[in-house]
Amino acid sequence: MSLTPIAGHPGFPDHNKLRDKITVASLRERKLRHEPLTCLTAYDYATARVVDEAAIDMILVGDSLAQTMLGYENTLSVTMDEMLHHVRAVRRGVKSALLLADMPYGSYQVDPNDAIRNATRFVKEGGAEVVKIEGGEKRTDLIRRIIDAEIPVAGHIGLTPQSVNVMGGYKVQGKDLGAIEQLMRDAVALDHAGVACLYLEGIPREVAAMITAEVGTPTIGIGAGPECDGQVLVFHDVVNLTFGPPAKFVRRYGDAAALITQAAQAFRADVKSHQYPSDEESYHLPKGTKAALETVLERKRAMRR
Ligand code: KIV
Repeated sequence: MSLTPIAGHPGFPDHNKLRDKITVASLRERKLRHEPLTCLTAYDYATARVVDEAAIDMILVGDSLAQTMLGYENTLSVTMDEMLHHVRAVRRGVKSALLLADMPYGSYQVDPNDAIRNATRFVKEGGAEVVKIEGGEKRTDLIRRIIDAEIPVAGHIGLTPQSVNVMGGYKVQGKDLGAIEQLMRDAVALDHAGVACLYLEGIPREVAAMITAEVGTPTIGIGAGPECDGQVLVFHDVVNLTFGPPAKFVRRYGDAAALITQAAQAFRADVKSHQYPSDEESYHLPKGTKAALETVLERKRAMRR
């Protein structure tokens, strides 16, 4: 395998040399300056490195890796150990972006002490800088306790995928007055609890705009309209590696499925037609060894005659 540094490659600016480390404090400064924040998910070293070097502000090791990387049906089955494995790989690829890790289902709902232990593992063993927890008002005590353990927490409200069975599917949330009022209460409660940022997923643009105006913490939207302080997308959605019709809010910026298919098919065709590898792609014996080998082989041939 060959490992070529991406940074410094002609035509690929080395953003790490140009930009400062993104921190929890800098997220708030960006909100105050109305500078949009960018966040993408990443689950492995190579993608994390490319995304970081593309100057994305925040990299989230989302529990969406359950579907994108591991092929599970939803996020409910992914475990702490599986998440940690990916967080460590991403950590090795990230220099400047803020690194967030999703607390998987079951890692914080059962027992607050377990939750703190699991959050600590993400920081200590995984190198995460922020942990993300789904849920509103009901999570505030837990969030305060995790912050007390010196771990910044990101909130996540609206369409929270870990509640898929309670919601009865992946449905846009906050569509009636009661639901809007609850979302506002959730957002304000999490803001007061001190979240580092607040992910807003699958809610009407108007509601996300109200929340963004109301809270001091930066809001990061996914399917929540343009008024959020920042936007997040799942990397596999962005590059067409999700094998299905995209959600309404997804914009595809590339077609990795087509690129990989084309590369795999071209490799296959070259091997089948003996076009790969060529002589230039092969190693050769040193001249002296080659001559000695010829002599040995010739002697063997002569003895057989
Ligand atoms: O797991 C994930 O990818 C997420 C984002 C959609 C915010 O939580």
